[in-house]
Amino acid sequence: MPHTCISRLNRAAAVIVAALALLIAAGTHSRSVLADDAYPKVNPLSGKPDAIKAGRDLYWKFCVQCHGKHADGVSTRWGGYAKDLRKWRYGYPEFIVVVLNGRPKKRMPPWGGYLEEEEIAEIAAFLETLAIEGARWQ
Ligand code: HEC
Repeated sequence: MPHTCISRLNRAAAVIVAALALLIAAGTHSRSVLADDAYPKVNPLSGKPDAIKAGRDLYWKFCVQCHGKHADGVSTRWGGYAKDLRKWRYGYPEFIVVVLNGRPKKRMPPWGGYLEEEEIAEIAAFLETLAIEGARWQ
């Protein structure tokens, strides 16, 4: 009897270990491919007046409802709702990844399929002009 018990436990442990290994592999894989390899380290449109202007227009079209007029995460409709984008601090490539994929479980919609990478770069160029202490775009 004790023998069966132990082998059941072992099997359960093996399943858990395998599941964890898969999760970790999936996590590191998508992160390195999307964040580190696929996009430039620095926004190529950073500081370009035309891009900043286009980015402001896009922001006001697609992002303002939730992130607010000042990009501080305070929505005119819902009050404090989304995150303060003036404090973005994970660098440019991660910004592209978050905007493309969204965080659907946390009510941030995915924009892949709606916005081109270049348009997201324009929004980033605009948001960089609003950066406050603690922000990091590079
Ligand atoms: C329907 C509402 C909504 C819209 C529209 C929206 N967002 Fe968000 N966004 C959110 C919410 C809510 C969060 C916070 C998610 C969380 O807690 O991680 C968020 C988080 C983010 C983050 C992560 C911030 C951080 O510091 O972790 C970025 C970047 C972002 N949004 C960019 C954008 C951009 C760019 C647009 C426009 C193209 C946009 N969002 C449009 C709701 C929205």
